[in-house]
Amino acid sequence: MSGEPPKKKRRYSGSNMTGESAESLRQQRCHLPIYSARGRLNLEIRKTSSAIIIGETGSGKTTQIPQYLYESGMAREGMIACTQPRRVAAITVAQRVAMEMGVELGKQVGYCVRFDDMTSPGTKIKYMTDGMLLREAILDPLLSKYAVVILDEAHERTIHTDVLFGVIKDAQQKRKKGKACPLKVIVMSATMDVDHFSTYFNNAPVLYIEGREHPIELLYSSMPQSDYLFAAIVTVFQIHQDEPPGHDILVFLTGQEEIEAMLKSVKDIAKDLPSDCPQLLVCPMYAALPPGQQLKIFQPTPAGSRKVILATNIAETSITIQGIKHVIDTGKVKAKSYQPGSGLDLLKVQWVSKSQAWQRTGRSGREDSGTCWRLYTENQFQELRENTIPEIQRCNLSSVVLQLLALGIPNILRFDFMDKPSAESIINAVDQLNLLAAVEKKDKVQLTSLGKKMAIFPLEPRLSKVILMAKEYNCLEEILTIVSLLSVESVLFTPHNKREDAHAARKKFTSSDGDHIMLLNIYRAYKAVKGNKQWCFENFINMRHMRNALDIRHQLREMCVRAGLPIQSCGPDTSAIRKCISSGQFMNTAELQREGEYVTLDRRQSVSIHPSSCLFQCKPAYVLYNELVYTTKCYMRNICVVDPEWLYEAAPTYFKRRYGGKNR
Ligand code: CDP
Ligand code: MG
Repeated sequence: MSGEPPKKKRRYSGSNMTGESAESLRQQRCHLPIYSARGRLNLEIRKTSSAIIIGETGSGKTTQIPQYLYESGMAREGMIACTQPRRVAAITVAQRVAMEMGVELGKQVGYCVRFDDMTSPGTKIKYMTDGMLLREAILDPLLSKYAVVILDEAHERTIHTDVLFGVIKDAQQKRKKGKACPLKVIVMSATMDVDHFSTYFNNAPVLYIEGREHPIELLYSSMPQSDYLFAAIVTVFQIHQDEPPGHDILVFLTGQEEIEAMLKSVKDIAKDLPSDCPQLLVCPMYAALPPGQQLKIFQPTPAGSRKVILATNIAETSITIQGIKHVIDTGKVKAKSYQPGSGLDLLKVQWVSKSQAWQRTGRSGREDSGTCWRLYTENQFQELRENTIPEIQRCNLSSVVLQLLALGIPNILRFDFMDKPSAESIINAVDQLNLLAAVEKKDKVQLTSLGKKMAIFPLEPRLSKVILMAKEYNCLEEILTIVSLLSVESVLFTPHNKREDAHAARKKFTSSDGDHIMLLNIYRAYKAVKGNKQWCFENFINMRHMRNALDIRHQLREMCVRAGLPIQSCGPDTSAIRKCISSGQFMNTAELQREGEYVTLDRRQSVSIHPSSCLFQCKPAYVLYNELVYTTKCYMRNICVVDPEWLYEAAPTYFKRRYGGKNR
């Protein structure tokens, strides 16, 4: 093992790291692969109304193209929007670009993500989530504020990007017919099925950005791994023992819990390494990580040590990390898959596609040659599907169908999708919205007045309905709190080694009526101590998530006030609250069987109460759940005790159809 300092010169790349001079930023911009192509890009983009830009991750597409367009005067007639599938990418890129342009974030350059709008009237370059642009389209289908819309990370094929494709094509045609300024569309991606995209966008030209590729050594596992987490840990230490310091490692894992568990194991093992071993810095990276901690991965690794980044697929294309020499690919990803009938998406660990595996591999050869360790066999690789299935073909569409109806799209089955979802899934979504009384089927499907109101809220239709129904039960105060707390990462902080302590400390908040009421109790206690930090610490409450929830609550409350909803409280009786929740979530319910197990009311699927629930030790006859998660078995998370009468009242026809009119 050599103690050599790393040879490579590393750049700062953390967005709001201070101390970077304007000159150094300018130089960094000039060294990006995209820089030499900027003249050609500007020229080509000026000529056409739609273009497709392909370039390897890190070549500078997301940060530079909007700036080039801005510099060449294309923002004169409207803003430049650049969409991102992930909020963290929208925020960090906007920070970076504001810094490169030497302007304050929120002025010329801003971002807009759900519940967080950092723009001002002078904003010219606006990074935003694809979901936000879709919401804006509901209010303004021509997207008249924008001169250019860039749909970034198009290969991810998120449901929102896919719908935007059609919405924007439509806006483009309508603006062409009218006298409005033309709308330019740019689709950007790392790798993708270029022909498919180009054909869809009326044979739009494809512009390639030459990347800097370095050879990558590909290593496969000799036999299938039964425990990829263990295999990943072994591989990290093998690299750490054999390779010189400074050669950083990026490990692809599936989610926060897994990352935190591996983080702990790696740190524990690293403590016992011989003293001549280089220091090992382990950094987690997932979307819900506090922004301050996310920035750690961008900081240069101190000489003589090695950085190990444990990341979700967020590091596949959304963010660029310098200095990665080794990639460890577990071959797994957590992705949504639709449960036909239950109306819910299930988050499940699954195999990646070949194109995802290649993306991961490519993260190792950015600045120099690299190695990719695939923790699966070559045969297993060959069996992977070629491309990831677009989200629109594997997710519940009720939210999207509601939005499309709000956009005034008359026949969703005939909407110009790039890849059509199945007719069955569209019909299912319409049925669900019908059950929620959001649509009515006359000669055609149309929104009811309730449905129109539901589309205003940036929430799943089930939750929007709960908010709108609160008027009937005089409990909007309580419902706003519960919905906000359900919209953020869990406010319960339960470290692995202090599980018992956490449960004991939070026992006073628990309720025999379930988690929703427990969340309400936590919120009330938090307000009573005015968000005291020590209180959060002692009660194992995640203060950051709590603050986010308060922020969301504030915004939802304003939306309710604007919609003329009375903000009332129902007092100490929780049944009004639970009835109100049932009115929107009646489809997500389960009943206790004689054997002591639960089955869902819709598909008779067996489910269990999640260990994090305050009802874990209890067996109420009927429960309503906010979501299903699948790990070793199918768990219901965030559970509320309900009376079957309420469910029947909420949707008589639905339960009649299933149970022959008997109110069980
Ligand atoms: O979009 P693409 O993957 O082509 O590249 P990009 O996101 O525009 O990133 C170009 C370069 O900007 C990266 O290689 C990083 O060095 C830098 N960057 C950064 O330092 N901080 C960010 N938040 C984003 C990019
Ligand atoms: Mg990018």
